[in-house]
Amino acid sequence: MENFSAYNPVRIHFGSNALFKIHEQAPIYGRRALVVYGQGSVKKYNILVKVLNQLSQAGISYVEYGGIKPNPVVEDVRKAADLARKEKVDMVFAVGGGSVIDSAKVIALTASSDMEPWHFMEGTAEPTAALPILTVLTVVGTGSEMNSVAVLQNNKEGKKLGMRHELMFPKESFLDPGLTITVPRFQTACGIADIIAHALEAYFGDGGSPLADYFATSIIREVMDAGIKLVNDLVNYDLRARIMLAATYALNGTTAIGRGNSGDWGTHAVGHILSLLYDLPHGATLSIAFPAWMKLHLDKIPDRIRHLGRLVFDNQCLDEYDTINKFEEFFKLIGLPTRLADVNVPRDDRYTILQLMDKNQVTGRVFPLSREDRAAIVELMATGGKM
Ligand code: NZQ
Ligand code: ZN
Repeated sequence: MENFSAYNPVRIHFGSNALFKIHEQAPIYGRRALVVYGQGSVKKYNILVKVLNQLSQAGISYVEYGGIKPNPVVEDVRKAADLARKEKVDMVFAVGGGSVIDSAKVIALTASSDMEPWHFMEGTAEPTAALPILTVLTVVGTGSEMNSVAVLQNNKEGKKLGMRHELMFPKESFLDPGLTITVPRFQTACGIADIIAHALEAYFGDGGSPLADYFATSIIREVMDAGIKLVNDLVNYDLRARIMLAATYALNGTTAIGRGNSGDWGTHAVGHILSLLYDLPHGATLSIAFPAWMKLHLDKIPDRIRHLGRLVFDNQCLDEYDTINKFEEFFKLIGLPTRLADVNVPRDDRYTILQLMDKNQVTGRVFPLSREDRAAIVELMATGGKM
C-alpha cells in the first residue's frame, strides 16, 4: 500500500428534496450569484426556474450565463468570468452536468483574479482565490459535483486539458436523481461508461490497495447492474439514484485510498483527443478507448486484468481476454460505440488522431505511452485487434 493524503470538503444533499435545501444553504456564501448553465435543457425541463426560485426565496439576486457547450471551451469561461467581475457576484452556481460544473470552477478562479483562464489549465498560473462554487447536477457521469477537477477545451490550440485544485471543490452540491430522468438513452449510457472508466483508471493506479480495488470494482458492478436496467427504463427514479450515487463516489477520492495517485488516466487522455477532433460525448470516447487500452496492456499486466475480471464478473470470467470482451460486450449492450467506425471516423483519419495524440503528449501516469503505444491504441480503436 502507498502513502496517501485524503481531503474532500464538499457537502452533498442527495435525494428528491435536494433542491429545497438551496434557500437554506446558499445565503452562507453571499447575496449575489452568477448562475451558469448549458444549451437549454435546464430551461426546457424546468430545472433552472426551480433553482432561481430557491435563490429568490433566499433573497439572493442573480445574473445568468447560459450556453456552455458539451466539451466546454475556454472562451465561455473568459466571458462568464468577465460578467461575474462586472456584476460583483459572491458565488458561482452551476446548473448542469460536468461541462457546466467544470466551467463554473474555472470561472470561480478567473473571476477572483486578473488571470487568463487557460493559464490555470496549463499550470502556468497558480490559483490563489476562488468564488464559492455551488452545483445542481442534471446529468450524471463525471463526478465533478464532488471533486476539485475541471476539464476545458481550447480549440485554437487543439488541446483539452484537465486541472485539479483544492479551490475548485464545490462548497455544496444538490443532487436530485429525478432531475436526470429526461436525459436521453445515449447520453445516459455515456455517463455510465464514464463512471466505469473512472473506476478503471483508479484500479490501474499505483500501488496495491485491495480495499480500493473492492471500492472500484463494486462501483463497476453496481453501475453495470443498474445501468443495463436504466437504459431500458429511463424514468425509473431508483435506478437514476443508484447511477448518480455511483458516479459521485467514483471520482471523489474514495477509489484512490492507499494508492500513490488517483489513477492512470492514459485512457482519458486518449478520449480527450477524440472529443477534440470529433466533438464526441466524453463517455462515448471512453467506450472506444478503454478496451483498446486494456488490449495494449494485455501482455504487461495480464494478472491485473484477470483479477479485475474476477472481481467484476465473479467466476463467469475466465481470463484476461474474457475480461476485456465482457467490458466491450457491456458497452455494446447499452448502445455505445466500441470502434472508431461506430462513430463514423473515416479509416484515413488514423494518422490525424496519432498526430494530435503526439502533439498533446498523450500518456498515462502509471503506464507511460510511447509513440508506438499510441499508434497501437489508434489501430486497436479502429480494428479491435485480434482477441
Ligand atoms: O447543454 P444542455 O442543453 O444542458 O444539454 C446537456 C448536454 O447536451 C444535456 N443535459 C444536461 N442535463 C440534462 C440534459 N439533457 C436532458 N435532461 C437533462 N436533465 O446533456 C448533455 C451533456 O452534458 P455535459 O455536461 O457535457 O455531460 P457530462 O456531465 O458528461 O460532462 C462532460 C464533460 O466533463 C468532462 C468531460 O471531459 C467533458 O468535457 N469531465 C470532467 C471531469 C471532472 N470534472 O471530474 C472528469 C471526467 O473524466 C471528464 O473528463
Ligand atoms: Zn471521465
